[in-house]
Amino acid sequence: MAADIPSFTLNTGYKMPSVGMGCWLGPAGHEETVEQMCKTALEVGYRHIDTAAGYFNEAAVGRAIRASSIPRADIFVVTKLPNGDHGRVAASFAESLAKLGLDYVDLYLMHWPQAAGPDGATIPRGTSPTFVETYKEMEKLLATGQVRSIGVSNFSVKNLDELLSATDVVPAANQVEVHPCLPSVELMQYCESKGILVTATRLWVCRPKEYDGKPVFLEDPDVVRIASDRGTTPGQVALSWGVQRRTAVIPKSENAGRIKQNISLVTLSADDMSTMDAIHKKPGLHRSLLRYHLNARMAPCLGGRTRTWDGT
Ligand SMILES: NC(=O)c1ccc[n+]([C@@H]2O[C@H](COP(=O)([O-])OP(=O)(O)OC[C@H]3O[C@@H](n4cnc5c(N)ncnc54)[C@H](OP(=O)(O)O)[C@@H]3O)[C@@H](O)[C@H]2O)c1
Repeated sequence: MAADIPSFTLNTGYKMPSVGMGCWLGPAGHEETVEQMCKTALEVGYRHIDTAAGYFNEAAVGRAIRASSIPRADIFVVTKLPNGDHGRVAASFAESLAKLGLDYVDLYLMHWPQAAGPDGATIPRGTSPTFVETYKEMEKLLATGQVRSIGVSNFSVKNLDELLSATDVVPAANQVEVHPCLPSVELMQYCESKGILVTATRLWVCRPKEYDGKPVFLEDPDVVRIASDRGTTPGQVALSWGVQRRTAVIPKSENAGRIKQNISLVTLSADDMSTMDAIHKKPGLHRSLLRYHLNARMAPCLGGRTRTWDGT
């Protein structure tokens, strides 16, 4: 049975469940883990799965979906165009769809505004294919019926402005780093004013003890207190805050207990919401947490490179 959580209606009219399973596990080679975590997620009520060509696990996601007895129409599947494929959108999308083994994708995102050349290096801004050119190719996919909605990821207000002024289809979603340490208020307001749903990535950002000792929001005393008041965990407070401020959230977990926990939202009071909104104003807490994500498995992503698969 689907979990009892809200859905958001996209500007295309399609509904996206507010909590999804994030599927980024770093470099290729974790297909079995992803398949199992998606199967568990679907069993406990997730109906939204977030993957990407650059996560190297679309086939595993597709296997998990097909292995479930859940009708395809009840599952919201997101995948993304990799940076290196901005010049071959239709072919890259066809490859993703074939790997997923599905007839259509619910939401297809441009993973990053920056295109990359064959050597993986970012192409300078303004050089073809620009993100406007790439997005126009994505717009054409809508007519095929194989993509229900298109959108972007990691787009700033500046880039969204440029995109909107040069294209016809307003992105249904913008998937970006948003969490209590980086509430991205200006971007959120901009997206809301244009009818673009924000999907928040990195709400969890790993269990803090695995990292360099700097505080992260899961250990913040206010978050811990709200969790205790609500009889829940700091993580569930963070996810509930995300959904209540109208972002979709896509926590990744391989742990069956946490997979289940992450889709159990609580209702936060107005005071709780204000407290959560202000976490990033505390000394040392306002920041991107991109680097916090790296654990032993992610480390090879950085070997000799300055970027991980997600460009961080
Ligand atoms: N568009 C983009 O550029 C972009 C960038 C980053 C991420 N994403 C998407 O967003 C998804 C989520 O972001 P993310 O993978 O960066 O990180 P995340 O989901 O914020 O964090 C994942 C980490 O948090 C742990 N975790 C999960 N549930 C927890 C809980 N209840 N309490 C404490 N720790 C918990 C997980 O460990 P266990 O597995 O052991 O539970 C894992 O180490 C990705 O999987 C991907 O789909 C997109």
